[in-house]
Amino acid sequence: MSKKNWYALLAILLIGAMALTACGGQEPATEVAPEGGKSEVEVFSWWTGGGEAAGLEAMIAIFNEKYPDIEFINATVAGGAGTNARAVLATRLQAGDAPDSWQGHAGQELIGTYVAADQIEPLNFLYEENGWLEVMPATLIPLISQNDNIYSVPVNIHRANVLWYNPKILDENGIAVPTTMDEWFAAMDALKAAGVETPLAMGEQWTAMHLLETVLLGSMDPAAYNGLWDGSTAWDGPEVKAAIENFERILTYTNSDATSLSWQDASQLVVEGDAAFNVMGDWAEGYFRELGKAPNADYGWAPVPGTGGTFQFLSDSFVMAKNAPHRDACIAWLTVAGSKEGQDAFNPVKGSIPARSDGDRNLYGEYLQSAMDDWASDVVVGSLTHGVVANDSWKTEIDTALGLYLGSGDIAAFQSALAAACATSGPCK
Ligand code: GAL
Repeated sequence: MSKKNWYALLAILLIGAMALTACGGQEPATEVAPEGGKSEVEVFSWWTGGGEAAGLEAMIAIFNEKYPDIEFINATVAGGAGTNARAVLATRLQAGDAPDSWQGHAGQELIGTYVAADQIEPLNFLYEENGWLEVMPATLIPLISQNDNIYSVPVNIHRANVLWYNPKILDENGIAVPTTMDEWFAAMDALKAAGVETPLAMGEQWTAMHLLETVLLGSMDPAAYNGLWDGSTAWDGPEVKAAIENFERILTYTNSDATSLSWQDASQLVVEGDAAFNVMGDWAEGYFRELGKAPNADYGWAPVPGTGGTFQFLSDSFVMAKNAPHRDACIAWLTVAGSKEGQDAFNPVKGSIPARSDGDRNLYGEYLQSAMDDWASDVVVGSLTHGVVANDSWKTEIDTALGLYLGSGDIAAFQSALAAACATSGPCK
């Protein structure tokens, strides 16, 4: 080959190589540096069901608008309150297959599980960059922090102690919304006598734990309730005994097919006129809206009897995996999750109020506006079922005791099992 031809061949090869690189899967530069040529973020949650999926979709829409070059991988696993999802997540984390980001409750669930196992990255830099410390509630920060490290981005505040009711059923039977346990019992007795088959709708076991935590709160004052979680209220004492007795009575008003109903099934009984009451977190309101039901016509709300003036809260928050597979894209996701825009898109649909204090009140419906007011003025206590007050092992022990009790109806054995759970996994050691 002549020198001239040799150079020509070299030039052709070079141009070819450049063309191959350009077409070879490298995406154009995005706001977030792509890693390995593909930009994506995998976000794990349990929001697949009615009301919940729609809330997440609303936030994903904002994300897609802001980061069109990052693919959002919506890794959700069905099952209310994370019953199945958390087990799947644990298996993935153990196998070294962490999603970039996942849903975790502020409080013991976060600190006692993912922080304790060193599975997530501190996010102080995001708080500093975005000025989040000025807008996130001061009550929340300690629940997502350890040793001055902040570990998650809260997207909302949910209320657990809500009594949903069917206004027509109450009106037709001349029943006022109950505010005390005794009024509630009287109301449900009257409804039963009037032929209402299901005064109180309940679902699968986690919804029984949810009911139990609200009855514990409704049967003692908030300080005593808080004392359950720091060891200063005795689990084998009179307050818990009274609460379990109330719980036992309340269960007599529930549907017999509870174990086969999801939370959506149980809440729906109220808005369809098949049950008078349901105790559920305010994600139920997101679901009622999705069903096209109207506040104060198809459903009403009040604090669970005995809990007026107290806001039993939980907060969904998102973390970043340690060594997240797509760290930059994950930061983009968390930035949206913590933003005013992201939260104001998500929460009105999800049935929660924004974790941020600067949400646009006008975007929220009547129920959520009332929740905003209560959050600002009530005594705030934490939820058991949704990760605030007890770590996973303690909660699991309580759940086991509850399961046995629901089968046996033995309240003395239930109370001793609860006391034992505090002694082995809680602060009663
Ligand atoms: C809670 C979660 C809520 C809602 C609910 C029912 O644990 O915090 O956002 O999803 O479960 O699934």
